[in-house]
Amino acid sequence: MKIISNALELKQELREQNGTIGYVPTMGALHEGHIALIKEARKENKVVVVSIFVNPTQFLAGEDLNRYPRRDEADKKICELAGVDFLFMPHAEELYFDDEVKIAAPNVRGYVLEGATRPGHFSGVLRVVMKLLNIVNPTNAYFGKKDAQQLNLIELMVKQFFMDVNIVPIDTVRDSDGLALSSRNAYLSKEQRQDALKIPKSLYRASQMVSRGILDVESIKENIVDVLEPLEIAYVEILNREFEVIESVEIGKSVILVEALVGNTRLLDNVWL
Ligand code: PAF
Repeated sequence: MKIISNALELKQELREQNGTIGYVPTMGALHEGHIALIKEARKENKVVVVSIFVNPTQFLAGEDLNRYPRRDEADKKICELAGVDFLFMPHAEELYFDDEVKIAAPNVRGYVLEGATRPGHFSGVLRVVMKLLNIVNPTNAYFGKKDAQQLNLIELMVKQFFMDVNIVPIDTVRDSDGLALSSRNAYLSKEQRQDALKIPKSLYRASQMVSRGILDVESIKENIVDVLEPLEIAYVEILNREFEVIESVEIGKSVILVEALVGNTRLLDNVWL
């Protein structure tokens, strides 16, 4: 595995490769969820590239940029063992420029749900993902379904900017207690982790309602809110795959999204119905 921090050097290396390139962008602190993305990339491509970059532009002032978990040495080992060919670890000064040309999140879809509580977050995500995709120029890029809104906006960017990459969504990986894996779970105390389990439980209950034939969005949302009590809820939303509001769940075409605060930690989860 080659570890590279310079964007132009990585571009040159990748130009010399033959065959498909699978790419997994990450912010490090790798867990089984990331490993699932890397394994899929390994299965489907000749060359696998992973990047680790804690992107400052997607954190708002006062958020956890400075305490975001950083485990570079462990991450390097994980990548090596997972069969990664190139690990890209750029520095912010090399990726960003003064007086920069900027891509921004769309005014509507980028400012609802997580975008409503974190205005500007998705502009930062799209800015860095656009740069990273242009550097790596992958055939396939892998993103987790846990960050459903991020995935939706990246798919939108790729479509609207006529970008030549196939975005591959990968199912959420859960711990044995049901909590969706996230680097931010590291912030939770033992008690908070117990509280956090209300999130997957609420989604499980919602899926059960749907399998019993209850498709009315308002009834399902009420049930989710009941299960989540007394957590502070950022949003509970049921949308179609285009992220538009619906009144009734359509199986195979809907997604339930939840964000709740456990202590100071924002946790996201969702279920694709
Ligand atoms: O999902 C993440 O880890 C980040 O938002 C991403 C896509 C690597 C961009 O910084």
